[in-house]
Amino acid sequence: MLFVPLLLSAALVLAAPAKRQSVAFIAPNANGGSNLDVATSDGLGEPLNVIVSALSSAAVLTDDGFLNWLQSINLSTECLGLHLGDPQTANLGDGQGFVDQVQEYREDFGNTDLGTCLESLIGGNHLRMWRQSTTGALFLAVSHEEDLDEGHTISPDGYNLGRDTLVSSAIAGSSHNGVTYTATVESVSGLLTPGTTGVNHDISQDGIVKVLTVTIV
Ligand SMILES: *[C@@H]1O[C@H](CO)[C@@H](O)[C@H](O)[C@H]1NC(C)=O
Repeated sequence: MLFVPLLLSAALVLAAPAKRQSVAFIAPNANGGSNLDVATSDGLGEPLNVIVSALSSAAVLTDDGFLNWLQSINLSTECLGLHLGDPQTANLGDGQGFVDQVQEYREDFGNTDLGTCLESLIGGNHLRMWRQSTTGALFLAVSHEEDLDEGHTISPDGYNLGRDTLVSSAIAGSSHNGVTYTATVESVSGLLTPGTTGVNHDISQDGIVKVLTVTIV
């Protein structure tokens, strides 16, 4: 008589789906957080204008897997590990409060070793990444920067432009180190207020967050 419940519980274990995320992300502003990070002492920030959905392939959501995907679209870690600028903080509404970015990345122009040093000189795409602890989704503050002659600041329209450049590379498909990626995109409003309110450098953005689902083929 004892074996019946044992068999039943074994069947339940086998039937349980592999642990997998069922939501793409949870809106930070539904839980006291924000899709604007904090960049300055007076509280201005940059828009977290791209989300890598938690429904992406699990490997893409790890630090190493995310870096490999970024390298497939010509972004990498900072020039020789140097940080140019202070970390920014964000509150993703996941109960952690404000936390520093996990990592900062720059365009590498197809050279993963030294290309990001070039970005620091000539400008290009740049992003900071945070991970939502409740879902595993990655929130990215993406911007396009000008060259050093321009003081290495965000380009005019640099938030929208940086986001759209990254998204078009992603959905074109890419590969790196033998891993091939495809991506789909959805536009989400209601996470950011369009305009310049609270936005660093007084650069207007359109309030749209692009949600990418990145899949390893
Ligand atoms: C990455 O850089 C290489 C070399 O400059 C270029 O051929 C390729 O098109 C770039 N890929 C993307 C996605 O920008």
